[in-house]
Amino acid sequence: MNDLSAFPDDFVWGAATAAYQIEGAATEDGRAPSIWDTFSHIPGNVDNGDTGDVACDHYHRWPEDLALAKELGLGAYRYSIAWPRVVPQADGRVNEAGLAFYDRLTDAVLEAGMTPFPTLYHWDLPQAQQDRGGWPVRETAERFGEFVEVVADRLGDRVKHWATLNEPLCSAWIGHLEGRMAPGLTDLTAAVRASYHLHLGHGFAVRALRERIPDAQIGIVNNLSPVLPATDSEADRAAALRADGHINRWWLDAIHGRGYPEDMVKLYGVELPIQDGDLDLISAPLDWLGLNYYFRQIVTDDPTGPAPYARMVPGPNEERTAMDWEVHAPGIEHLLLRLTKEYGAQKIYVAESGAAYHDTVAPDGSVHDPERTAYLESHLAACARAVAQGAPLGGYFVWSLIDNFEWSYGYDKRFGLVHVDYETQRRTVKSSGRRYAELIAEHRRRTAR
Ligand code: FCB
Repeated sequence: MNDLSAFPDDFVWGAATAAYQIEGAATEDGRAPSIWDTFSHIPGNVDNGDTGDVACDHYHRWPEDLALAKELGLGAYRYSIAWPRVVPQADGRVNEAGLAFYDRLTDAVLEAGMTPFPTLYHWDLPQAQQDRGGWPVRETAERFGEFVEVVADRLGDRVKHWATLNEPLCSAWIGHLEGRMAPGLTDLTAAVRASYHLHLGHGFAVRALRERIPDAQIGIVNNLSPVLPATDSEADRAAALRADGHINRWWLDAIHGRGYPEDMVKLYGVELPIQDGDLDLISAPLDWLGLNYYFRQIVTDDPTGPAPYARMVPGPNEERTAMDWEVHAPGIEHLLLRLTKEYGAQKIYVAESGAAYHDTVAPDGSVHDPERTAYLESHLAACARAVAQGAPLGGYFVWSLIDNFEWSYGYDKRFGLVHVDYETQRRTVKSSGRRYAELIAEHRRRTAR
């Protein structure tokens, strides 16, 4: 594969997971339901009727999972802290057993020689907060800030790298506008208000972390896509500009102190509930930007569809993942350079990159997944090209460490470096996991010289 020597010596090699996707133990030790428990239990919302009730049983099997991460040689582990375990109800009471779980987990991550990179919100809003209005109301952002205070007080002595939100685009647009994720709404006004309060919650979280952890390294994780018009027509080019606003600029401009893009504010036609001081909180300086990249978006004008009136069409590359996502590695290079040049990023982590394929266990017990290996190699090579052109890339986290509950797609879509047999909970490192371990070891050998 291409030379990865462009990566800095202290490049962070990691893998990512999220609480609801792996933990299971949905009712244990005082955890209350999140919007994903509610959503996944409604028939028709998730393929095969799957839920996160048991998932990978990581809540009990985490020592084995961290041992696997260590075996792969990971330098960092990105996991998420479940708000519904730590502050399960709307009354703000702290559930000590839930907090203690993340305390033990974090200690074990450190003992395994990995840097912990927890995410504070990976989509599992406590149902009790949803019942009080959820992200469309301001109170949710305030309560999120309080939850972050609790977590920072407990883990801040050991954890320095923090991600506030994971992919707020999905929470707001897919959860409140498209209805394909929890809480399953299709309401533009709710979606725009949710997007704003997610950002505000991020702002409260940054303030809470800065006050408590002076040497914190704080970032936010956005999923971005290069957007291209399907044809050269004026209508498609205008659609691409709108889609870029919806997918990329809306999520980047405000946190960079540029406010919300005017064209999009006009297009949505929903008044933003901005109060004095909010925009400063939302754009408080960050130490890094997290980029999740899965696919580019080629769009055509769609006047009758939902905002932003642009519909994605299949890309020309025949290589596709099991999600039917087009494989297009240059997209990650493009986005890294855009964050560098247009937004002046000082440090970027690829917080998620990976692919689902139909993995099977061979009779000899091995899992051979050459497509995933090729996917990771091509995306890492594209990252190296971006670094050679000046992108300040600090690390790369594969999505995911282990197969898990892929939201509305359930357990059929496998993204792991490690295969999970859900009947037996047996873990098997895939050949892509072995290859990733080799790449990490090669980089270490080179930088140790
Ligand atoms: C991202 C999510 C992550 C996982 C991957 C495939 O959008 O952050 O939880 O589902 O997609």
